[in-house]
Formats: sequence, structure tokens, C-alpha cells
Amino acid sequence: MTSDPLLAPTREELQRALEARKAPGLLALVPTMGALHAGHASLMRVARDRVWDGGQVVASVFVNPLQFAPGEDLDRYPRTLDADLEVCAREGVDVVFAPSVDEVYPGGDPQVTVDPGPLAAQLEGASRPGHFAGVLTVVATLFGLVRPDVAVFGQKDYQQLALVQRMSRDLCLGVEVVGAETVREADGLALSSRNRYLDADQRRRATVLSRALAAAAERAPYGLPAARWAAMRVLDEEPESEVGLDYLAIRTPDLQVVIDEHPAEPTPARVLIAATVGTTRLIDNLPLLLGGGRAAVAAD
Ligand code: PAF
Repeated sequence: MTSDPLLAPTREELQRALEARKAPGLLALVPTMGALHAGHASLMRVARDRVWDGGQVVASVFVNPLQFAPGEDLDRYPRTLDADLEVCAREGVDVVFAPSVDEVYPGGDPQVTVDPGPLAAQLEGASRPGHFAGVLTVVATLFGLVRPDVAVFGQKDYQQLALVQRMSRDLCLGVEVVGAETVREADGLALSSRNRYLDADQRRRATVLSRALAAAAERAPYGLPAARWAAMRVLDEEPESEVGLDYLAIRTPDLQVVIDEHPAEPTPARVLIAATVGTTRLIDNLPLLLGGGRAAVAAD
């Protein structure tokens, strides 16, 4: 049985809803930009599990203009609030905060924003300058409005997760930032609200991202060149005109260090990819264990 969440379009209604449902347990926040899919539903389940005993779950639905550069898809980003509320109801969310832009940024863009530091200039940040300053600014604002104990983000946006974790730690925000596993279609494509931009042919080609990552993870014991080579061999199956690779990167799990040697012991790492399929930019990533195997084996 599901019960409808309280819908709070304003700051005041959010505070009233939090008061009305005041619970002795933990408060978890799942920040989203709406267009909710099974990946978001899984974040809500992780949040619910974390606060189960008497706690409550708040989901925010807000397409944050600050994190879109001019020319990106702010205007066409899907807005599907009615369907989003149904997902939230099914997942037992207590409160849905779905504010307008004026409600989040009264008086226009904020004068004070979060500087996301050097990691934000790399990987996604290199192609999307200002993106992570916009993300961290809205996340810090949401943390201030909701005051959660726990916040759940998807590992699909791995750099975002790493930066939010870092922000909460460096600025002592007191929010435990939890990363939830990526949910995939049966053919491996990571769920994303932007997948709906793909036509049938692009949708078929888009599986090349997860296949390349899986190939890298499989060869990772043999070292970095072998892992990269395996991924590139998969990517080469698609013409550059259809799938444009932006980056394929292998880093330490916190993304701070580019790995460039062959570890003697199996060492946890992360492989990340970004590519444009048609006109849609897609990202994905996987954990891998790098090294430990014979270094020179790149190909069968
Ligand atoms: O991952 C997203 O959907 C957004 O970047 C977030 C975290 C909700 C901030 O707008």
C-alpha cells in the first residue's frame, strides 16, 4: 500500500511538511531534477533503508539552471512532475520538495556560490565549465533547506558524487553522502533521464559505453594499457561520426589521482567514460581492480 507524499512547492510548505511528519529517526534527502526513472527509485529505496526506523525521506525535484551552460539542454530537459509524484508515492517518499527557480534563488542567481575546487575542472568539468559549481551550490542550498542527516546520490554521476562527498567533508556540513549503485537496462545501458533523447539507432549504439567499461574491467588485472586497449577496441566498433569519445579515464576511487603505473597488488580504481551519441552526451563508470596480473598481456 502506498500513501501520497506531501507536495511542497515553497520553502514554507517544506518546513511545514517536515514539521507535520516530524519523526524521531533520521531524515534522508534524495536530490533529483525529476524525469524520474528506476534509477531514481533505487535511490529512494536506499534512502528509505537508511532511515527505516521511524525516519523520513524527502525527494527534491528541481531543474537547476545554475548547472546548465548556455546552449545546453535546460529548456528541453524533461519536466514530468505528475509522473514523478507517482514514483515518489510508490517508493514511500514522505515529502516532495518541487520548488520554482524563484523559490530556490529568490532575488536571482545567488551572489555567493560554492567553489568546487580543482577536481571540478577535470573530466566532466573540462567539457562543462561551471557545471559543478552550479551542482554544489544547489546541493548546499538543499542541504540548508532540508537539513538532512543522509543524502543519496547515484554512482552513475560519479564525479558529482565524489564532489558532494568532498564538500560535505571539507565544509563540515554534517551530511552523510551515500552513493547508490547504477541501475542498468538489460543490455547494460545506464539509466539516465537523457536516454529519452536517443532515437532507436542511437539507443542501440549507446550500449558501447557500458561494453567498453566492462571490457576495461575485465582486462584491468593486466594493467592500465591492457584495460585501455580493451575499452578502445570496443569503442572502435562505432564510427566517430556516431559516437564521439570525450574521455576514457582510470583514476583512484576518489578521482584525485590519475593512475599511470601497474600496481603489483590488485588495487581498487574507477574507470569513467563520456561520449556523445548523436547530439546526446552520455556518461558512465565502473569500479575495477587494477593490476596484480601479468603486466604485458594486452591482447589475446
Ligand atoms: O544529479 C542530478 O540530478 C543533479 O545534478 C542534482 C544532484 C539533483 C543537483 O541539481
